[in-house]
Amino acid sequence: MKHGDNVSASECSHLRSLILNSVLGIFKQQAFLGVVKALQSCPWKEDQTERNLFRANLGKCCNASYSMIMTQENTVIGQTINFDAETKIKQNITKSLYSLFPKKSPFQKPIRTCAVVGNGGILNNSSCGAQIDGADFVFRLNFPPLNWTDDVGAKTDLVTSNPSILINRFSSLTEQRKPFIRMVQEYGSPLILLPAFSYSANTEVSLRALYTADEFDLKSKVVFFNPDYLKNLTAHWKSVGLKFVRFSSGLMVMSMAMEVCDEVTLYGFWPFPKDLNGVPILHHYYDNVPPKPGIHAMPEEFYQYLQMHVKGSLRLNLGHC
Ligand SMILES: *[C@@H]1O[C@H](CO)[C@@H](O)[C@H](O)[C@H]1NC(C)=O
Ligand SMILES: *[C@@H]1O[C@H](CO)[C@@H](O)[C@H](O)[C@H]1NC(C)=O
Ligand SMILES: *[C@@H]1O[C@H](CO)[C@@H](O)[C@H](O)[C@H]1NC(C)=O
Ligand SMILES: *[C@@H]1O[C@H](CO)[C@@H](O)[C@H](O)[C@H]1NC(C)=O
Ligand SMILES: *[C@@H]1O[C@H](CO)[C@@H](O)[C@H](O)[C@H]1NC(C)=O
Ligand SMILES: *[C@@H]1O[C@H](CO)[C@@H](O)[C@H](O)[C@H]1NC(C)=O
Repeated sequence: MKHGDNVSASECSHLRSLILNSVLGIFKQQAFLGVVKALQSCPWKEDQTERNLFRANLGKCCNASYSMIMTQENTVIGQTINFDAETKIKQNITKSLYSLFPKKSPFQKPIRTCAVVGNGGILNNSSCGAQIDGADFVFRLNFPPLNWTDDVGAKTDLVTSNPSILINRFSSLTEQRKPFIRMVQEYGSPLILLPAFSYSANTEVSLRALYTADEFDLKSKVVFFNPDYLKNLTAHWKSVGLKFVRFSSGLMVMSMAMEVCDEVTLYGFWPFPKDLNGVPILHHYYDNVPPKPGIHAMPEEFYQYLQMHVKGSLRLNLGHC
């Protein structure tokens, strides 16, 4: 974003067409960083046509505002649903399970501006906190620590959680639940979005999170991803050529935001070990633990975001704010 090197209009259009007409595999890492760095000096403009096209395509496959969360509107008692990651396993929607779902989707009306905050080490020293908090709606992933608010902000309207966080950090919520309550309260009153019906091993702990929020009268609501939505979203991304075993929660949340928000900016999405100046950075802004190898395809997902940035359908922030 910041003007450093002067990159001419023709260089910018060359960079854009290079990114749009290539696949990530052709780049050597150093050259790739150079291209992305040079692009930072090119102006970004939203392209309404691209933006609307992207939204309409996602709407056709996935319809996030109606379908992404299990609601009483999109399920019926007695229905069986398939888990999206363990396709042979089914869940019966009993009356008591149904009663835990919100009546309607919380995303009835479009939200004007959204920030989707990934946890990449590139956020360290970004000073993006105020800009992030200035968005109408802030999505975060996996209950990240918020103790660098100058860089990452504090506003949290929705946070996803990998159930492994509940299992490992909070003893699957079978023991003292206060530590979980205290952590959630640090985020204000976000929607907590859990993949309760992706892997059957995570269903019980996800339900316990909902019971806990209920019993302690948290302002936060726990809601569940609709596995049918995730299945359709997976098929959609595979159909446009993205290769992965399991897509990341970043890609899920970005896709959701593209449907429910008018303007989307991504922060902290950067899957490389060095920043744009070649300086080594942490994997996350709060720790240096890499994800399990072989499951997600973060660089390929990143390349999608970069292409979307170039097309003007979202803004990918990689620098200082
Ligand atoms: C999503 O589904 C709802 C309910 O069926 C429908 O009213 C709405 O038009 C759909 N939206 C899109 C983008 O298809
Ligand atoms: C689902 O549960 C209901 C009771 O709530 C039961 O009547 C029905 O047979 C069950 N269906 C399946 C497929 O297990
Ligand atoms: C990050 O900020 C600290 C102080 O807050 C400063 O000492 C350090 O040089 C900064 N690092 C980078 C890479 O800018
Ligand atoms: C921020 O939070 C993390 C995890 O909660 C903790 O390990 C770390 O020491 C904290 N850092 C600062 C600067 O407060
Ligand atoms: C998923 O896609 C199928 C086939 O196009 C469609 O029938 C179904 O309604 C979709 N499910 C959701 C939750 O959007
Ligand atoms: C941020 O960068 C500074 C140096 O640039 C480093 O000292 C600090 O530990 C980093 N903090 C995090 C959370 O990465």
